[in-house]
Amino acid sequence: MALLLYFVPLLFMNYASASSNCDFPAIFNFGDSNSDTGGFGAAFQPPTRPNGETFFRRPAGRFSDGRLIIDFIAEGLGLTYLHAYLDALRPNFSHGVNFATAASTILPQRNVLPLGGFSPFSLNLQYIQFTRLRNDSHFIFNHDKGGVFDFLLPKKDYYSRALYTFDIGHNDMTAALFANMSISEVGGLIPYMVGNLSATVKSVYNDGGRSFWIQNTDPSGCLPYLLVNLAVPPSQIDSAGCAIPYNNLSQLYNDKLKEAVIQLRRDLPLAAITYVDIYNVKYSLISQAHKYGFEKPLVACCGYGEDEFNYSPQAPCGGTIKANGGEVFVGSCDKPSVRVNWDGVHYTEAANKFVFDQIVNGKFSDPPVSLRMACHRKAN
Ligand SMILES: *[C@@H]1O[C@H](CO)[C@@H](O)[C@H](O)[C@H]1NC(C)=O
Ligand SMILES: *[C@@H]1O[C@H](CO)[C@@H](O)[C@H](O)[C@H]1NC(C)=O
Ligand SMILES: *[C@@H]1O[C@H](CO)[C@@H](O)[C@H](O)[C@H]1NC(C)=O
Ligand SMILES: *[C@@H]1O[C@H](CO)[C@@H](O)[C@H](O)[C@H]1NC(C)=O
Ligand SMILES: *[C@@H]1O[C@H](CO)[C@@H](O)[C@H](O)[C@H]1NC(C)=O
Repeated sequence: MALLLYFVPLLFMNYASASSNCDFPAIFNFGDSNSDTGGFGAAFQPPTRPNGETFFRRPAGRFSDGRLIIDFIAEGLGLTYLHAYLDALRPNFSHGVNFATAASTILPQRNVLPLGGFSPFSLNLQYIQFTRLRNDSHFIFNHDKGGVFDFLLPKKDYYSRALYTFDIGHNDMTAALFANMSISEVGGLIPYMVGNLSATVKSVYNDGGRSFWIQNTDPSGCLPYLLVNLAVPPSQIDSAGCAIPYNNLSQLYNDKLKEAVIQLRRDLPLAAITYVDIYNVKYSLISQAHKYGFEKPLVACCGYGEDEFNYSPQAPCGGTIKANGGEVFVGSCDKPSVRVNWDGVHYTEAANKFVFDQIVNGKFSDPPVSLRMACHRKAN
């Protein structure tokens, strides 16, 4: 009888493997501001209003008016929004953890907060935080069963069943551009970025992770903060109004990332790795905004500027600026629901929702599996 019971589930799993939903019990996310749900705010300075106004009705640790792609992913899997690992005030990690912080990079930077501009929590540190969480939750599971943390940490088997999501790399390239490196010098960093990201995926795999969802990087040349701070000559602006050299860099990184994913599939025989093409979804949205019901894709909704981008580094979203003989609050535009860009750097909830709706069914993924099928390994 015992033997029979043991074999039945195995047979069922084989039969079901190609077609059934994955039942991910948790998400572990690694990334930057595109997927930060409160890490930066916990460690440094929380985003202020009007961030969060559309959905949460208050600042909610996100650099957006509402939900991020990772929030829609959590909803899509029937899970609650991820809490940030660094957030001591919301330590409920029962269905996943978010290690992302705004301004994070893959490679460690020298120019980090509080004196510099980038997050010290680069991908290698995010991975160390993950291993600490995993080690400690195993310890607690074995020694403090029924204690309060037993209810706040992922269950032991969640680590192998979870979806591991990655969305990082953008800031490595902008950090180098802001340090006045040439385009080809920045391109020279890409193999190291991709190498370190691959190494992290392998480490998670060696720790038991099996399902990986790797988003490529966005067309950074379409973001107001780069178009203003690192302006390029008109000859290097494309028909959508984006800076060609920066989009070229994003595409170069994405090409190398895709090659690395193919190699990872060879190296990690039990892993299901989904490569998700965010770049092309966002570029379509920006270059054909009207077709999709959006307006002014290159103009910050929450910003203040004399320029065509409504963006100025001296007047960040939520800040104040001296103008017209008084203090002016840098607030939101009238209709964030039809806008693509939120604050010159990040996307609106409406844009994030648009991207999620495009990627959820696998149309922009390699292999073309939907989010709920992302535990199934590609056939070859
Ligand atoms: C933690 O969050 C889960 C949902 O993700 C919820 O079911 C559970 O009650 C929460 N635990 C505590 C102790 O608040
Ligand atoms: C977690 O445990 C592994 C294996 O025992 C160990 O190598 C690693 O250093 C630990 N990591 C942390 C952050 O405690
Ligand atoms: C980069 O170059 C600009 C213009 O030449 C200069 O103002 C700026 O200080 C330089 N930045 C760095 C980090 O060297
Ligand atoms: C990770 O990046 C560092 C540079 O920061 C580089 O020296 C190292 O070779 C990279 N590791 C891999 C596995 O590519
Ligand atoms: C962008 O990349 C294309 C193809 O790799 C190249 O031909 C072109 O010169 C690049 N343009 C700029 C402005 O960097």
